[in-house]
Amino acid sequence: MSLEPATVGAIVPAAGRGERFRGATPKALVPIRGRPLVQHALEAIHRVDEVVAIVVVGPAHVLDAMRELVAAARLDKVTAVIAGGADRQASVARGLEALPAAADLVLIHDGARPCVTPGLVRAVVAAAATAGAATAAVPIEDTVKRGEDGWVTSTLDRTQLYRVQTPQAFHRAVLERAHREALRSGFHGTDDAALVEQLGHPVRLVAGDAGNLKVTVPEDLAVAEALLGRGGGPADAVRVGLGFDAHRFAGGRRLILGGVEIPWPRGLDGWSDADVVAHAVMDALLGAAGCGDIGRHFPPGDPAYAGADSLQLLGRVRDLLASRGWRAAHVDVVIMAQAPRLAPYVPAMQASLARVLRLDGSAVNLKATTLEGMGALGREEGIAAQAVATLAPLPAVGRSE
Ligand code: CTP
Ligand code: MG
Repeated sequence: MSLEPATVGAIVPAAGRGERFRGATPKALVPIRGRPLVQHALEAIHRVDEVVAIVVVGPAHVLDAMRELVAAARLDKVTAVIAGGADRQASVARGLEALPAAADLVLIHDGARPCVTPGLVRAVVAAAATAGAATAAVPIEDTVKRGEDGWVTSTLDRTQLYRVQTPQAFHRAVLERAHREALRSGFHGTDDAALVEQLGHPVRLVAGDAGNLKVTVPEDLAVAEALLGRGGGPADAVRVGLGFDAHRFAGGRRLILGGVEIPWPRGLDGWSDADVVAHAVMDALLGAAGCGDIGRHFPPGDPAYAGADSLQLLGRVRDLLASRGWRAAHVDVVIMAQAPRLAPYVPAMQASLARVLRLDGSAVNLKATTLEGMGALGREEGIAAQAVATLAPLPAVGRSE
């Protein structure tokens, strides 16, 4: 196997309860730099060519959310998203059963370690291909002592001590035997290498990365976020989105723009309140977050949205973005209307959009233009609006509460 490039199947255990993290959201789904925690590890593994399949093991009650993030992030090597077991070992065992038969080398990486690099994954895979078993590990830098009842009993030789991380990788046959044997003997290990050690099989140490931390307690989130930003930060530290909407005039309807009712003999036709300004802003926000468009989230024809107040829908878009770790930083809108004259209403529209988006008034810019009589809008057949929105990551601290 060492001469052939390995066919790697990856298992990402992310089914823990996150008890030490103490968050309302399952730890794996807590947003960090605009993406759920587990997505960072998945993306790093996905970039490794040898990896042909990934099995994600999650908490049973959020599998749909996990499948959604896998689809949205186009992680098309993910072959299964399955429910975990009572402990990590049981979760990995389930992952192993779900792994496609083609995988002859198994990579295991905790969903709670978002800062892993494709380079470290490759290094562990390469070592396991030759040695049969390998784990990332870092030498201990602190002096380590044994203690009892508050007293030092001895000082250990730290030159022989390592902090063990994931990724770990194994010949599939070795790992399957190790799990079978552990199940038979009732052995419980906190990592998979421990199970392989029980077989008497050697495990190769691969130089890990001190930055490959496991998010365990809430304080770890800010550290992981900073580490993920090393080298100037990812391209998505800021996102921009574009939105456009147009509605026809119709009699017997109120004219609502930017949440403000404008006195005018005709309103705009549409399923909701037909607020083109709010709709363009929502599409810009959803676009920036990579979340599709309003039609996907609030389908026209759905009785739930008949006559809906678009500002309320805008509030829901704001909350959706927050759940993905984003906040609106700035919105700019141009309204295309031959009539009525909108300038007198611009401050009120700005204020209502800013209130819903929890922005300072100066971060919402609105302007209106006529069409010089050109085209359908120029003939006063309707009103259109265009918006751009900028998103910034929500600060990590306090987000899990
Ligand atoms: N894990 C799992 N299934 C379990 C327990 C843990 O898949 N039954 C996963 C976790 O989701 C995590 C990894 O194993 O990605 C390492 O576990 P840990 O950091 O301890 O996470 P939790 O078990 O979620 O946290 P805690 O121990 O604080 O509850
Ligand atoms: Mg745990």
